[in-house]
Amino acid sequence: MPSWDPDLYDRYKAHRDRPALDLMVQIPDRRFREIWDLGCGSGEHAALLALRHSTARVHGLDSSPDMLRQAKNRPSEVNWVLGSVEAFAPTTPPDLIFTNAALQWLPDHATLFPRLVGLLERGGVFACQMPMAFETQHHRILRETAEAGPWASLTREARRIDPTPALADYYGWLSAICGEVDIWTTTYLHALEGEDPVVEWMRGTALRPYLDVLADDEALLEAFLDAFRARIVADFPPREDGVTLFPFPRLFMVAVR
Ligand SMILES: C[S@@+](CC[C@H](N)C(=O)[O-])C[C@H]1O[C@@H](n2cnc3c(N)ncnc32)[C@H](O)[C@@H]1O
Repeated sequence: MPSWDPDLYDRYKAHRDRPALDLMVQIPDRRFREIWDLGCGSGEHAALLALRHSTARVHGLDSSPDMLRQAKNRPSEVNWVLGSVEAFAPTTPPDLIFTNAALQWLPDHATLFPRLVGLLERGGVFACQMPMAFETQHHRILRETAEAGPWASLTREARRIDPTPALADYYGWLSAICGEVDIWTTTYLHALEGEDPVVEWMRGTALRPYLDVLADDEALLEAFLDAFRARIVADFPPREDGVTLFPFPRLFMVAVR
C-alpha cells in the first residue's frame, strides 16, 4: 500500500471534495444508525456524515496511520479505526457504507463489492465513488513513463491501479443482492492554478507508489519526475490565463440492499 501525505493530498481539496459531496447528496434521506467510511483518509467526509446524521455511530476506517493522525485532529464524534478494507468485518452490521476515492486501490472488485454490500443490514445503503483513473490520459502517461527509463526495474514494483471494470459488471455484482442500484459517471473539468498542477495533484495520489519505490535514489526519482512532468505539460499545457484544464472521469454508485 502506498504511503500517504495528508497535506499534499489536501492541496486540491475543493476539487477532490466535489465528487464526495455529489455522492453524499444521493444517499437516501433517512435515519442511519451505524455508518462506516471506508478509506476515510484525513476524515473530512466521515466528520461531515457525523454532522449530517447526528444520531448515528460513525466510524472512519483507513490503513494509513498518517491520514488517521490528521483525522483524529478533527473535532468530531467519529470513531477512527486503523485497518484495511480487505479485513473489514464489523461486529454490528452497518446501515450505511460510504467510500470515496479509495476502492480503486483494491483488486478483485468482483469479490470485494458483493462482500462489502453483503455486510450491510437489510435495507442498508452502499455509496461509492471511484476515479476511473486507469483510462485517463494522465495515467497512461504515468504508466508509459514508468516503463521507459532507467527507473523501470524499480517502478515495476509500484502498486498499480487496475483498469476500471465495465459499469455493467458493477450493476451485476450489486443487483444480485440489492433491490435498488443507481450507477452513473461524471467527468469533472478541473480548472487548476499554479505551476505543474497536474503533477502536483498526482503527487498526492497516483504518484505515491512510484515515489515510494524510488525514495532511496533521489537522483533517479528526480529524473523520473522530470520526464513525467515534461510529458504532462505537453499534454496539459496551461492556458494563456494560467489555468490548466484537467478532465477527470469518476464512477458513482448508490445501492440499497
Ligand atoms: C485517495 S485517498 C481518499 C481519502 C478520502 N476518502 C477522501 O475522499 O478524501 C485514499 C485513501 O484510501 C486509503 N486506503 C487505500 N487502500 C486501503 C485499504 N486497503 N484499506 C483501508 N484504507 C485504504 C488510503 O490510506 C487513503 O487514505
